[in-house]
Amino acid sequence: MQSQVFLRHTPGCGTGVNRQVRHVGRASAFGNTFTRLILQSSQCGCSVSTLEASNKARRVSGRRAAARNAARAASASQKLTVAVTGATGLVGTRLVQRLAREGHNVRVLTRDVGNAKDKLRSRNTQFYGPRSWSEAVSGASGVINLAGEPISTRWTNTVKREIKRSRIETTRALVAAINACPKNRRPKVLVSTSAVGFYGTSETQTFSEASAAGNDYLAEVCREWEAQASKADVDRVVILRTGIVLAKEGGAVGKMLPVFKLFAGGPLGTGQQWCSWIHRDDLVSLYMEALTNSAFRGSYNATAPNPVRMAELCSVLGSRLGRPSWLPVPSFAISALLGAGASVVLEGQKVLPKKTLENGFEFQYSKLDPAISNILAGS
Ligand SMILES: NC(=O)c1ccc[n+]([C@@H]2O[C@H](COP(=O)([O-])OP(=O)(O)OC[C@H]3O[C@@H](n4cnc5c(N)ncnc54)[C@H](OP(=O)(O)O)[C@@H]3O)[C@@H](O)[C@H]2O)c1
Repeated sequence: MQSQVFLRHTPGCGTGVNRQVRHVGRASAFGNTFTRLILQSSQCGCSVSTLEASNKARRVSGRRAAARNAARAASASQKLTVAVTGATGLVGTRLVQRLAREGHNVRVLTRDVGNAKDKLRSRNTQFYGPRSWSEAVSGASGVINLAGEPISTRWTNTVKREIKRSRIETTRALVAAINACPKNRRPKVLVSTSAVGFYGTSETQTFSEASAAGNDYLAEVCREWEAQASKADVDRVVILRTGIVLAKEGGAVGKMLPVFKLFAGGPLGTGQQWCSWIHRDDLVSLYMEALTNSAFRGSYNATAPNPVRMAELCSVLGSRLGRPSWLPVPSFAISALLGAGASVVLEGQKVLPKKTLENGFEFQYSKLDPAISNILAGS
């Protein structure tokens, strides 16, 4: 295994070496070099660290962040009853597992009860078809709205209509069911999904929650989707503007993996487009936080604090998959796979989770490399 050893001399430490010394090689081959560095640092009092050590520290701090988020959510939410639409999808399945694991009751609102029962075999879970959504939300503590036709697909006119209709009409029906509940049976909070597509696309701008909406097709879908959600007459409506979700089994990156395996790890398109990503586990934690933390109200970006240009995402993916990273993946290959839905990865936006961080949310995966390593390892 490759290992790196750093010796950092503090300016003015007396050694006269005011620079960082870096050695790269096999851990087992460091031998004398490592001993010399340790001795040198013990003389001047400066620090020696190995990359393994700092990676370990990062892993520990990631686990601590997850534990803190979970503990905060658990203490704030003793035994909730949570109604969830889109629970059978990439994000929803994980969210339902998490809710059930923490002892909450889950009400799955689905178009197809049989399919949902096959996909979600969790304890504490009840299933409701479209005709019983009113019953499903009545008496629930909170509602999470994830439903929508997938967008990382070929966009025929019919699909485009369905992408919009599925989000706006599902949210309208859900909000109508919530608002029809008598006050004493009405959920207190609605956490509803939106996407970073809200801001439109740009290679140069940086967007935070305060930025204005864009005016392309996806921005229009997101604006109307959010507008429907905000009509819920509840204590809190929280909107999560979600970035590209990193998961092995699906989403844009999950779908790109076979292409990377076939071709190479080079940039997609120009590679200069921004990719605002989030690890699926962090997204699930953020839904839990938004549900249980009353400081969350209004719109939040559900993206890791370190968005990257697509070239970097591809290079990390390529290197983790052992593919060369100099050969570009042709846009036509991605367009053939995703159709117009490829715009999600061929055009992008740099989005920062400013309000999300200000509210104290701690990301377990704030850097891309460990997030990709984790999803490729099968999480
Ligand atoms: N994955 C990402 O990278 C990403 C990025 C930004 C935003 N988002 C948004 O986050 C939400 C969850 O994402 P996801 O990746 O988990 O989505 P997903 O895997 O595509 O699942 C969405 C769920 O929505 C329901 N659904 C699908 N087509 C529908 C239709 N035509 N009408 C009504 N309901 C429909 C389905 O549930 P039932 O069959 O049980 O009804 C499905 O399981 C989605 O709204 C998505 O747009 C995702």
